[in-house]
Amino acid sequence: MVDPSAIILTTFFLGLALTYILKHIHKNKHDSSHQLPHGSMGWPLSGETLGFLKPHTSNSLGNFLEEHCSRYGKVFKSHLFGSPTIVSCDFELNLYILQNEGKLFPADYPKVMHNILGKFALLLVNGDLHRKLRNTVISFVSATKCDSNFLHCVERLVLSRINSWDPLSNQVAFYKEAKRYTINVMLKHLLNINPDEPLACKILQHFENYIKGFVSLPLNIPGTAYFKAVKARKKLSSIIQDIILEKRKGEPVGGDLLNVILSKPNLSDEEIVSIVLDILFGGYETTTKVLSLIVYFLGGASNALERLKEEHQEIRERKDEGELLNWEDYKHMEFTQNVINEAMRCGNVVKFLHRKAVQYVKFKDIVIPAGWKVLPVLSAGHLDPTLFENSLEFNPFRWNDNSTSKKVAPFGGGPRLCPGADLAKVEIAFFLHHLVLNYRWKIKDDDPPLAFPYVEFTGGLLLDLEPTGSTFGEHP
Ligand code: HEM
Repeated sequence: MVDPSAIILTTFFLGLALTYILKHIHKNKHDSSHQLPHGSMGWPLSGETLGFLKPHTSNSLGNFLEEHCSRYGKVFKSHLFGSPTIVSCDFELNLYILQNEGKLFPADYPKVMHNILGKFALLLVNGDLHRKLRNTVISFVSATKCDSNFLHCVERLVLSRINSWDPLSNQVAFYKEAKRYTINVMLKHLLNINPDEPLACKILQHFENYIKGFVSLPLNIPGTAYFKAVKARKKLSSIIQDIILEKRKGEPVGGDLLNVILSKPNLSDEEIVSIVLDILFGGYETTTKVLSLIVYFLGGASNALERLKEEHQEIRERKDEGELLNWEDYKHMEFTQNVINEAMRCGNVVKFLHRKAVQYVKFKDIVIPAGWKVLPVLSAGHLDPTLFENSLEFNPFRWNDNSTSKKVAPFGGGPRLCPGADLAKVEIAFFLHHLVLNYRWKIKDDDPPLAFPYVEFTGGLLLDLEPTGSTFGEHP
């Protein structure tokens, strides 16, 4: 007679063994040819976040990525921003991640950004809501970029900025100047606020606080960067809300482009305020940084500066004295485009993006588990020596060569590709036009762009200026 307890025990152990075997087969099915990338998960809780965020010059990969890539390869696992993470320094995988944004890898920005940006921010919303809000930004940009009113407005703001520089002091803190310029362009064109109005100053101050909050700890305690950022967003929202209300009453406030946004059906006031903030935010920080990067890099690249100056002199020679630039002139700024492309490749305004895998994904022989954070590192592709010869060197002439790789993604890619790229380029090109025609410059101190992880010039990018003696550009 067989002991029933022995049958139960045997069945239990057989069950366990079967479960183990099935699990193992299942695991091998996923893992035999495809593997979770190598890497290290770092410390409990903080993982490797501090090492990943450690500042370094933005035209380099930084120690963390260099060491990890050489130890584990271009794609590795880590623990960042509180989640197990796959970090990709591989251009092909980055492209795949960005192009499959909706289905496989939705945006996954840290919680601190949700509270500051608000629930309708384009970077944070998904699906139909994302499409609706994004289309509004796209119509704003299309209605703007080649409109002669906008182009003239941009140029006048360039001139007023450059003419405000004290001719007796031959120094300027360029980073601050670039910030004033880019915010003024958006305030004037979108909200019809003039640079000299006190409201412009107020908005700039709120914006500074708003932006500082993005890389802060989410501690809602008075005095913290986070607290100030949340408060700044509320103030900015109420200023924009007031302008919208006045505009609806038929008051002549707000620029024509606010009309473009207000004319869209099915947008709540909260969504409109959020779109205006998106455009101000998107257009301000990044454009300022690219302009400053160009000035920084050109300071050490006299051949490129000479070629750029020639291009703008040629454009000026075709125009009547004092005549403002138009879209045709912009289209002739070909070398200027090379300079912009190269500064974005070398300077890496946006080092990496935040995504999450919503399902188990296999790419070539790489496995990305469902629920893991995924960080495509854009700078890694830009500085990859297998894609770009002398990849760390700022050389705008490389873009004249058809064989130069086009594998860059400074504006991201896929369904979230930056909608403001063309606008930013026009603003930068027009500023460079008057800068190179009016001035030569030297970078005063050693003040390289630092990835914090967003680019910063900690010394404010002080320039020693020398006027070239050009007369165009008196206050119009
Ligand atoms: C040279 C300057 C700029 C750079 C380097 C830049 C870079 C980027 C990048 C990399 C993204 C993708 C974010 C992601 O996929 O998670 C993005 C998105 C965005 N950018 Fe820009 N940007 C610039 C200028 C502008 C301007 C002038 C605007 C104003 C209209 C703007 C508005 C936006 C918005 C609203 C998004 C979110 C798009 C979405 O989620 O669908 N950007 N930008």
